Amino acid sequence: IINYVYMSRICGNFAAINIIMYMKKLLISCLLLIGMNAGAQTLPTYLDETKPVEQRIDDVLSRMTLDEKIAVIHAQSKFSAAGVPRLGIPDLWTDDGPHGIRPNTLWDKWRDAGQTNDSCVAFPALTCLAATWNPALAGDYGVSLGEEARYRSKDVVLGPGMNIYRSPIGGRNFEYLGEDPFLASRMVVPYIQGIQSTGTAACAKHFALNNEEAFRKRYNVVVSDRALHEIYLPAFKAAVEEGKVWAVMCAYNLYNNQPCCANDVLVNKILKGDWKFDGVAMTDWGVHTTTDDAVKYGMDMEFGTHTDGLAKGKDNAYEYYYLARPYKEGILSGKYSMKDLDEKVRRVLRLHFRTTMNRHRAYGFMCSEAHYDVARKIGEEGIVLLQNKRSLLPLNANAKRILVVGENAIKPMTVGGGSSSLKVQREVSPLDGLKARLGDKVQIDYARGYVGDTIVSYSGYRFNTDLRDNRSAEELKREAIEKAKGADYVIFVGGLNKCDGQDAEGYDRKGLELPYGQDELIEALAAVNKNMVYVNVSGNAVAMPWHAKVPAIVQAWFLGSEAGNALAAVLAGDANPSGKLPFTMPAKLEDVGAHALNTYPGTWRKDKKIIDREYKEGLYVGYRWVDHAKTTPLFAFGYGLSYTQFKIANLRADKTTMTRDGKITFTVDVTNTGRRAGAEVVQLYIHDKESSLERPYKELKGFDKVYLQPGETRQVNITIDVKALSFYNDKTQSWTAEDGEFVALVGNGTNNLKNSLKFRLQ
Ligand code: BGC
Repeated sequence: IINYVYMSRICGNFAAINIIMYMKKLLISCLLLIGMNAGAQTLPTYLDETKPVEQRIDDVLSRMTLDEKIAVIHAQSKFSAAGVPRLGIPDLWTDDGPHGIRPNTLWDKWRDAGQTNDSCVAFPALTCLAATWNPALAGDYGVSLGEEARYRSKDVVLGPGMNIYRSPIGGRNFEYLGEDPFLASRMVVPYIQGIQSTGTAACAKHFALNNEEAFRKRYNVVVSDRALHEIYLPAFKAAVEEGKVWAVMCAYNLYNNQPCCANDVLVNKILKGDWKFDGVAMTDWGVHTTTDDAVKYGMDMEFGTHTDGLAKGKDNAYEYYYLARPYKEGILSGKYSMKDLDEKVRRVLRLHFRTTMNRHRAYGFMCSEAHYDVARKIGEEGIVLLQNKRSLLPLNANAKRILVVGENAIKPMTVGGGSSSLKVQREVSPLDGLKARLGDKVQIDYARGYVGDTIVSYSGYRFNTDLRDNRSAEELKREAIEKAKGADYVIFVGGLNKCDGQDAEGYDRKGLELPYGQDELIEALAAVNKNMVYVNVSGNAVAMPWHAKVPAIVQAWFLGSEAGNALAAVLAGDANPSGKLPFTMPAKLEDVGAHALNTYPGTWRKDKKIIDREYKEGLYVGYRWVDHAKTTPLFAFGYGLSYTQFKIANLRADKTTMTRDGKITFTVDVTNTGRRAGAEVVQLYIHDKESSLERPYKELKGFDKVYLQPGETRQVNITIDVKALSFYNDKTQSWTAEDGEFVALVGNGTNNLKNSLKFRLQ
């Protein structure tokens, strides 16, 4: 009013009103601006996305109480750890892994929670992924899995598993990527990057040396430094250094007399020191250590079961964990430093900022057709054609009657096997897949042949099928043989089945043989029908004493939701097989280094608490042992047939001498000489001619998968650098490459490396 009176005197009524209105607007804008600035000033640094993450972490850390710090570094339920509710940091949810997102369990139980919204897509087991020799598919696998995890609000997928296949009786080999460190490394990197591109952490497991299951919480691995670094660690190193994995799960077993989860050499020196891992080193579920060791030897986050990895402990025991109340009390009494605790919390917070606190991450999808497509494609590319006499496969389009035999043609394989067990939206069995693909034109009969294991449930979840059959073994066999007579083909779908001792966590197999009298049945069927196809469902090598009598043999892995469709596509010839074995299939167990040298299960110490498992075969794992001991495998590492033929020729290089900081590129011409389009995996192995230390005869150092039309030729280039020529020198504790002559060996499997070329390092 005062303004108006004053202004109207100067410039008249109308102008005065206008000027005052304008000033009012100006005042409001100023107030708003001040208000906004005041708002910005109150936004805490840790919520300010424009600030560097490390600064945001420091900010949270400075605001957290001791109780809050302790709470985030250990589990609060079977699969989750607390966040910091006061600061708006959500709980962190983990879940298995590695083949699909495990169904939700009860809060403090392994038991399925019985929800109806947690059915997933099961992707093929990692052995199958490795058999594709196609890193791009590993990336698709990771993205799809990450999307399923996002939809289910999981922040950490407990996978991939990447322990080396040391023995074919290892119960968890199906969850891993085969026997070769280079192949496993090439596959884990895109898988991890794929998952993490969705804002979900991957968790590389089980670090390290978890190569068999028997006494997994009690065995202490005794292994040379060379074998540790050259065979057992490279996939983990690639996961950390190239994949930039955000979490690592430490193995149950011991190394160097310390459990891997609190291990000075593995966790402190190698993982966090040499590889500069900045993520979370978490325990496997239920570990046996002490709070002192957990604090000192690198354990950042404790998950699991009860209080003691060896005993049963109590339910809801989270407060008693090594990193829970005992740790807090130790800090309050001055025994442990806040600095050590902050280092663990900092890593956990970093994991939060990469996952739960990432407001831009994907929403995710579950059971999308795109995920099924990825699952089927990996299945089709991973199936390995091991034998195909008389070109029995693909199935002749004029066939009238096909007999399918075997329990594995109808048994759900996505259930069982341990922590990787899933609840799927659908699983197409081999029998259903064959019926769907061929049933219109061909009569598909089925005979069970044998009853193996009728379990179709895991941890409270039951697959909706009933496998019980009360007929005697004799009746079942007789029925199969009768039906086999006169059939155009007999397709026997057998192998292992993820039941205890048959490819399952917690148990190793008793031997290489097929269970449930399958060998006898296969021989009997082959005797009455010459068109027999044996389809082996497993994640491990099995003995095939009858292989000369069965014309076609197919390695079909655990293929997940799309199993039957992928298998039918390969058998019918819609997909041309291009999988290659990611491990050696020995003729007998004694042809495997670990068994030839009698190192399994190991030697119990006097106190009967620890068993020492000495990896006496050292570097000679898989095909390295085949070369060393000059054994003849049943089917070699890298081997796999196609419905077409390929010629790999004209190996050449862009130079004859490579320098230490340089590279060398090898080139070969690959021609599809057959009549079908197909893919071949060109493999490069390096043989070191002169070395101061003993080395395996050859080692895989490069590969490339090429798709070729009939008659098409392509040049394949594979480039290596000095890393491919190096070995781990245990005297200097470093990777070393020595000047001298090397040989490049190129072909399509360790049994077929016809192209060779000498070159020098200087
Ligand atoms: C397995 C891990 C798994 C965890 C949670 C453990 O028994 O060894 O691989 O991620 O359980 O299910």
